[in-house]
Amino acid sequence: MKVLVIGSGGREHALVWKLRQSSRVDKVFCAPGNTGIVELAECLDIKADDIDALLNFAKYEGIDLTVVGPEAPLTAGIVDSFLKAERRIFGPDKSGARLEGSKVFAKNFMRKYGLPTAEYKTFTSCLHAEEYIRLKGVPVVIKADGLAAGKGVFVCETADEAIDALRLIMKEKAFGDAGSKVVVEQCLKGEEASFMILTDGKTVVPLATSQDHKKIFDGDKGPNTGGMGAYSPAPVIDKNLYSKIMKTVIDPMMKGLKRERMNYRGVIYAGLMIVDGKPYVLEFNCRFGDPETQPILMRLDSDLFDMLKATAEGRLSEVQVIWKEDTAVCVVVSSKGYPGTYEKGKIIEGLDELKGKRNIMVFHAGTSLNKGKIVTSGGRVLGVTALGKDIQTAKGNAYKALEKIHFDGMHYRTDIADKAIKRQ
Ligand code: AMP
Ligand code: GLY
Repeated sequence: MKVLVIGSGGREHALVWKLRQSSRVDKVFCAPGNTGIVELAECLDIKADDIDALLNFAKYEGIDLTVVGPEAPLTAGIVDSFLKAERRIFGPDKSGARLEGSKVFAKNFMRKYGLPTAEYKTFTSCLHAEEYIRLKGVPVVIKADGLAAGKGVFVCETADEAIDALRLIMKEKAFGDAGSKVVVEQCLKGEEASFMILTDGKTVVPLATSQDHKKIFDGDKGPNTGGMGAYSPAPVIDKNLYSKIMKTVIDPMMKGLKRERMNYRGVIYAGLMIVDGKPYVLEFNCRFGDPETQPILMRLDSDLFDMLKATAEGRLSEVQVIWKEDTAVCVVVSSKGYPGTYEKGKIIEGLDELKGKRNIMVFHAGTSLNKGKIVTSGGRVLGVTALGKDIQTAKGNAYKALEKIHFDGMHYRTDIADKAIKRQ
């Protein structure tokens, strides 16, 4: 079978790596891929959002399954185009992808189907939003409605911050049309966790639990990023909380998908805030999390190709998923300055030493090749991911591996997984 993976981050490197392990997969292509993916798949010079070119390639090459990594092609309707051309694809169609593509839609969906979420109001007028904030007080969270590359959410402690955020989104149009509407919501305090499921619209298969680290610096300080590290499983989700999540979040969400007649054959990522032992949904993503996917797939024993193909074909009820007992920890290495501006082109050393180790995978994100050397080309550069028999061992293995890697201005958090360790 031939598989096409769309995207170029650490998540896509992990997907390609795992798909290649399937005995049913003969060849993997990746559009556009990255320097790490090149070793496992044929990378194509096609952008992740060039839907026509991707479809043409899938037809020409006779691709059996296309797996979409990032949200942009999903919200732009790649699945609709592929299905119309009768090509098998893993991911929600445009209507399903609205769960991530519009925060207003997602919040209204949660309210309609009774999912626990922060109290909120939506606005199309900056003035009305400002009045509401002055009335409600702070802290408050402001969210641009549409996709904003993870930069459209502002957790504001003061009224001035909130007003600045509103103006940036609605007046200065920092995120273009994504900022024509905003959600203003109650600020929740608790611990975050990531809960992903596969669904074909009928059956739900939960993936292993995980926890991301959004802030750039140790101790959850500094600005939000795409994610600086993750581990799986997340001990904050104990048995009791797990069943609460299934009952209060996943069951009503599935009911909503059916009622709204969404054609959803993909992954749903619920970003949760756990407050006093209760899960609240902060956001939905219509794709695999990044970096959560890296540690989760390290722990997967089952055949990922079978799982994704069955999802795309509406046969998810036939799938059994087996996880390793081991824990996995992924530490993201970023360029100095990220999530702000950063320099590119720094030579990365030490990667060869980490190749071929059973317990370690270095997933590439922002890397490229320059005169035969691997250099940095993005904010998040690598995801050093390790398995261990428990969380301490996995953390130790990841950080030991990291010591081998060097590039000018490399940055990483030193406290990934400490929350889980403290919990023991
Ligand atoms: P989102 O993209 O909606 O998940 O928001 C990005 C990040 O903003 C989350 O991971 C949280 O850290 C934070 N956040 C979002 N909504 C809230 C909220 N209602 N209360 C507190 N923090 C939030
Ligand atoms: N790690 C957060 C995300 O994938 O959105």
